[in-house]
Amino acid sequence: MVPHIFVIFGVTGDLARRKLLPAFYHLMAQNGCEAENYMLGVGRRDWDDERFRSEAIDALKEQGYSDSELSTWCQHQVFFHPMHDYTPDGFSALKKRIEQIEAEFDLPGNRVFYMSLPPETFPQTVKALGEAGLSQSRGWTRVVVEKPFGHDLASSQELSSLIHSYFDESQVYRIDHYLGKTTVQNMLVFRFANGLFEPLWNRDRISRVEITVAEEGGVGTRAGYYDTSGAIRDMVQNHVFQLLSLVAMEPPGAFEPDAIRAEKVKVLNAVQSIRPEAVVLGQYAGGTINGADVRGYREEPDVPADSVTETYSAIKLEVENWRWHGVPFYLRSGKRLPRRSTQIAIRFREAPVALFRQFKERPYANVLVISVQPDEGFELFFDIKTPEREFALETKRLSFRYADHFGRMPDAYETLLFDVIMGDQTLFVHTDEVEASWRILKPLLESRPKPFPYPAGSWGPWEVERLLDDWADICSGD
Ligand code: BG6
Repeated sequence: MVPHIFVIFGVTGDLARRKLLPAFYHLMAQNGCEAENYMLGVGRRDWDDERFRSEAIDALKEQGYSDSELSTWCQHQVFFHPMHDYTPDGFSALKKRIEQIEAEFDLPGNRVFYMSLPPETFPQTVKALGEAGLSQSRGWTRVVVEKPFGHDLASSQELSSLIHSYFDESQVYRIDHYLGKTTVQNMLVFRFANGLFEPLWNRDRISRVEITVAEEGGVGTRAGYYDTSGAIRDMVQNHVFQLLSLVAMEPPGAFEPDAIRAEKVKVLNAVQSIRPEAVVLGQYAGGTINGADVRGYREEPDVPADSVTETYSAIKLEVENWRWHGVPFYLRSGKRLPRRSTQIAIRFREAPVALFRQFKERPYANVLVISVQPDEGFELFFDIKTPEREFALETKRLSFRYADHFGRMPDAYETLLFDVIMGDQTLFVHTDEVEASWRILKPLLESRPKPFPYPAGSWGPWEVERLLDDWADICSGD
């Protein structure tokens, strides 16, 4: 890897502990922990390097890392810089610390600044970095911004223009960790490396597309953030729309970041404004998941007892272009659903002449279900004749599972951190995509219908049947 210093703001937080430290360490370990890659954690705690190193070792051990290289890595390549206030003085002290580490280890001045911070602190951090002269260096400088990028169109535009007053777009890496998942990237390969499906991938042969991002977990301890966000801002604006763009985009002219991102943004720009009757929002009440009782959203720690934040959303929309005219896209995402499952289901049109109508359980057979997680892979359903003498049809599947052929799937953050260090922006979200997605959601966020309650452990409020009444079939792959 390229020699650099990786600065993580908010390094004592949950994301850093659970995702960033393990991903960074695993990358280093894979590369034999080369001496020229350094991490500088920045946090408000009064820790020194030693204290941070022992915390980092504990966090990594929790994730199952215990190899002998771990302490060596921490001793020699990991540092901590306490910063209580994000003021100009604070940032000039940080600058000095970075320059001191670079001088000590003879680094070329390549820097990553990763903002693992509460979203409301992004603007002041970006400004302070810029004002301290940290947006440029002898080498390259990159800034990584976690989602959510703004909380609506206006705030995302403000944040973009602030960032662009100090950083060029080529220096900005907006993370949507779904893009780091192998199965999400595989959408490009599946569609554009195989000639088989592309001629079928349009309104002539596809009758509808369903995208489901179901989570078993609830809000956990993140109510402070989540209650002001809700499912639309937390999941739809970013992860779900990214999946939509990859399913619906045109083939890019080349396999390179700008060409791919330009095609994705065209999809979002073609999305028609969402009608209120095409949306169902929900909020989980108490219920049972896997035999265990779980409490409702309003009883979760730090959630106001009268909260009207949605934890579920189902939306029907259309992508109004030549390829997709008239094909409905159904998007749903929710917490406390029966199981964790992210899937894209492409339902193909029925055969033009229904020769076997009287023998079929249901009119359609051909559904392609791409399973993003867990149980990564895909399945193609089709009808066959059963061997019995009596003529009968059954729907069966051809399937591919990553687990049958490959070992460990890399963590999304590992892939994304590697790309930041290597300067590849393909898997990062362009400012145009962020703005296009907020633009689609603007009317919905302004009207914000009240969520219907649904019992935890169900597939959402029953009102969703108004949009589509056979989602669960697809989701369970029956
Ligand atoms: C995050 C959301 O971006 O994605 C969380 O803020 C959600 O609310 C998480 O739980 C889901 O990620 P994954 O990778 O577990 O599907």
